[in-house]
Amino acid sequence: MSIFDELTRLKDEVTSEIRGASTLEVLEETKIRVFGRKGGALTTILRGLGSLSAEERPEVGRQANEIKEFLEGLLAERQAELRGEALEGRMLEERIDVTLPGCWPPPGRIHLINQVIRQIKDIFRGLGFGVIRGPEVETDFYNFEALNIPADHPSREMWDSFFLREGLLLRTHTSPVQVRVMEASEPPVRIIVPGKCYRRDAVDATHFWEFHQVEGLLVDEGVTFADLKGTLEVFARALFGKRRRARFNPSYFPFTEPSAEVMVDCFLCEGAGCRMCKNSGWIEIMGCGMVHPRVLSRVGYDTERYTGYAFGMGVERIAMLSRGIDDIRLLFEGDDRFLRQF
Ligand code: DAH
Repeated sequence: MSIFDELTRLKDEVTSEIRGASTLEVLEETKIRVFGRKGGALTTILRGLGSLSAEERPEVGRQANEIKEFLEGLLAERQAELRGEALEGRMLEERIDVTLPGCWPPPGRIHLINQVIRQIKDIFRGLGFGVIRGPEVETDFYNFEALNIPADHPSREMWDSFFLREGLLLRTHTSPVQVRVMEASEPPVRIIVPGKCYRRDAVDATHFWEFHQVEGLLVDEGVTFADLKGTLEVFARALFGKRRRARFNPSYFPFTEPSAEVMVDCFLCEGAGCRMCKNSGWIEIMGCGMVHPRVLSRVGYDTERYTGYAFGMGVERIAMLSRGIDDIRLLFEGDDRFLRQF
């Protein structure tokens, strides 16, 4: 076979190989076999030009270069084709169905208890009260003694406590913060104290061992029970509706004298009597009174000059009353089906 026949055969063979290549890998193999620096068929022919006779050399060189150019062009074309196909295939394979519904992170919300605390804070802030917090682990002194509840006094039975190490307990009410605030500042004092409290109560529909209170304290010159009544009536109307009336029933707390329970007329039956108000027409919302002089003098306040009032309310009770919830446990279970209703 002459060298020219060989070139023609190579051209035909490689042309059909390139056209028939089904993958980029096969094409690459062909390329190496024909154009490879070492042992490539065409490379070998071109390298061997030197050993040809002077007559043959230019024609063989010309044809070989022509074939080289032709095949290189063909190869590039087929490469582009196969690349396009590969890309298309990958795009099909990796396609993302953007019409599928996504995963929605459920938006969080403020727990009903905190919503009610915020409501209460808003009302008292509007009346000029500051908001402070106190420790949940208290000393026996602040939780009881300083509030005129001596050890072994029967009134301690109003608060069944969780006792910790010697002299420490989980506070049973927010009232100890009254004492802490008065120790730290001189009158006038005008604050509310929202926070968690704990009692060793048996759990039922209206009791839980953990709950929230908002305490209030105002001490200044010339403060009277009339100020207490006016302030709490404004509060009750802001929280339960403009038409509400407040009533003060005599009561007893060791740290107030006189003491009272605040009742509002039932917002469900407008005072006619229903299940909510146990047919009395009135609902108790908090305890209050004039701060006992013994509590004031213990923190060094001049009881001839200063008087004050205090009050304390259960946040769960207010939440339950205002939202018609009949079991306190629902507020602590964290069940979203319940909580998302508020
Ligand atoms: N600390 C009382 C309780 O937990 C509630 C209370 C009543 C607070 C009267 C007061 C108050 O400040 O004056 O039962």
